[in-house]
Amino acid sequence: MNSAISRRVFLIGSAAGALNFRSRSASSASAPAFELVAREVDRSLVADPAVRSPTWLYNGSLPGPLLRAVKGQVVTVRFKNELSQPTSIHWHGIRLDNAMDGVPGLTQDPVQPGSSFEYRFQVPDAGTFWYHAHEQSWEQVARGLYGALIVDEEQVVLPPEQDISLVVDDWRLNSEGVLDTRSFGALSDWSHGGRMGNWLTVNGEPEKVFELQRGKWYRLRLINTCNARILALDPTRFRAQIIAYDGQTLAEPAEAPYAPLLLGPAQRMDLLFQAQDEFELEELSGPQPFPFVRFHVGGEANVATRRPEFVPADLPDPVLDDALQVRLEMAGGAMGKQVEMRYNGEVLEGEEVIEARQFWSFNGVANLAEAPLFTAQRGRSISLTIVNETAFPHAMHLHGHHFRVLSRSEASVDDGKPWRDTFLIGPSQTTHIAFVADNPGRWLLHCHMLEHAAAGMNTWFEVTA
Ligand code: C2O
Ligand code: CU
Repeated sequence: MNSAISRRVFLIGSAAGALNFRSRSASSASAPAFELVAREVDRSLVADPAVRSPTWLYNGSLPGPLLRAVKGQVVTVRFKNELSQPTSIHWHGIRLDNAMDGVPGLTQDPVQPGSSFEYRFQVPDAGTFWYHAHEQSWEQVARGLYGALIVDEEQVVLPPEQDISLVVDDWRLNSEGVLDTRSFGALSDWSHGGRMGNWLTVNGEPEKVFELQRGKWYRLRLINTCNARILALDPTRFRAQIIAYDGQTLAEPAEAPYAPLLLGPAQRMDLLFQAQDEFELEELSGPQPFPFVRFHVGGEANVATRRPEFVPADLPDPVLDDALQVRLEMAGGAMGKQVEMRYNGEVLEGEEVIEARQFWSFNGVANLAEAPLFTAQRGRSISLTIVNETAFPHAMHLHGHHFRVLSRSEASVDDGKPWRDTFLIGPSQTTHIAFVADNPGRWLLHCHMLEHAAAGMNTWFEVTA
């Protein structure tokens, strides 16, 4: 190459550097590789370290190690299962190669005790994601098998100390402060609202405190890893704006359209704020506000910093005129509409429902049927209408794709229709979502209230190449 040209390129590069557009390398040379080992660890979930609970963790840490990559990189995770039951890892929200999606029976065989599996996939979107066990997840996730997966922008937007991930989980503790393992699989949880905890941790700690610098901008990445609890949060209390949902950056930072905002199981919400005064984040779904994380603010007030800017998500928009129309009716559960329910090809009657532990159905079928909900040619737009005929809210998750929520119970959604991978649907609500089925393979569509998924709320669809 002509040296005058390369010198010019160099100068342009360094000028940009001076403007603080530091670039990260997404080359394969720096491709991140991680090792995860799932195993049983006794760990405290309360302030007293001597009060230990039988948790199951990745690399002995709660949450599992924070995995970071840069948009476009190929991530390798060598996984070993040292649990006494089979497992797998799902990379929630990553639009990845189907073979790496971590769904036993659909995309891979479960990883048996003592066995290993290597996951390798590209991360196409910058944002907040997470990983978790996807076998017996109502127990494995509830015991701690999850962690954050952060995909950074190609250009550094905020330094790591201004980028805070909050992995929020609720736990059901007994009166001694120990994880209540006896109630795993309780039929009342499976047929009602799922397993709710009575204790909240952030990044594995009951009373997490962060020290912030006054005047600096912070990105808070909230991840709800609860089995079934919908967290209610009010970001207006510390003047935060929303910059992303479910790992996809909004076109513009947005004010909360109402308060409190709901963050369903598996959902993420990224907030941006400038640190001013000390505050607490409170969980507002219970009868009393429950403060669960505190932010101290120190330093002088005159730190003049520009508000950081984020590159909006860039996903193909569905074409509604040409879309495949699909309808999904959710039924069953306590107090809900009961329909004739098929499970493994048989109609379940009376006591069989309880024996099979199947309480919920999608279009009259409990759990994975042999036939997919729909099959679409790659690139086809899908218009999916979901009708909730149960008496409970649900957090519906679509694997391998993001979608827009177009309307809820006939009302159009006036929030810019952000991309999501998980949406909340209330009792008796009808929700209309749409997306482009552009990722070939077999993908799950299920409720992320993990007891509901185990008790029937699971289906799948196929995108053909
Ligand atoms: Cu985060 Cu199929 O799940
Ligand atoms: Cu549900």
